[in-house]
Amino acid sequence: MSLFSTEATEITSLRKLRDAEAQCTRCPLYRDATQVVPGEGPISAALMLVGEQPGNDEDLAGKPFVGPAGRVLDRALADAGLDRSKVFVTNAVKHFKFELRGKRRLHKRPNAYEIERCRWWLDLERAIVKPELVVALGATAARSLLNRTVSIAAVRGKILEAGDGMRLAVTIHPSYLLRIIERADKEQEYRRFVGDLRMCKQALREAA
Ligand code: URA
Repeated sequence: MSLFSTEATEITSLRKLRDAEAQCTRCPLYRDATQVVPGEGPISAALMLVGEQPGNDEDLAGKPFVGPAGRVLDRALADAGLDRSKVFVTNAVKHFKFELRGKRRLHKRPNAYEIERCRWWLDLERAIVKPELVVALGATAARSLLNRTVSIAAVRGKILEAGDGMRLAVTIHPSYLLRIIERADKEQEYRRFVGDLRMCKQALREAA
């Protein structure tokens, strides 16, 4: 199936979406990545988490958030009382962007063009899953979902209403926690992250 012959309206299930994503050539990132990393989770998920892009481990596994950042996310979700198997987990950009340093593939931030091109897939995921609440993990996801750059500090801790009726919360990306060296700071930021996820859980309960 060629992506160019696939109308968005034909993509009505997560399986069709995964098949179409696997053919994606909407930006050059598909060329160097091992594979596309589609979102994962139940179609009935009330909560959708959106990260930045797959990392090295995710690129190899074909699944989102299975590497070091994923382990932090799993722990934080559990501490917030959220069951990952009931959450739809995805990324703003579906292919791994990296630069080679010797044999190592080092993460490179997706640029505005790549985020913009990949929003097509994120919009389809939202249209199919219809989550009650979307959580942007970090600035790239927030930018994709709000279509503008935002400072996380300015929007954190509240539920935003986006133009198309989407309810959105913005928090840090879990990889930020991996970069904090000082133990006390790390612990404090981790607790704040769990607090943000708890607020999302509460917002879901209030919407139910
Ligand atoms: N970081 C992300 O933003 N997404 C992943 O899937 C893994 C790490």
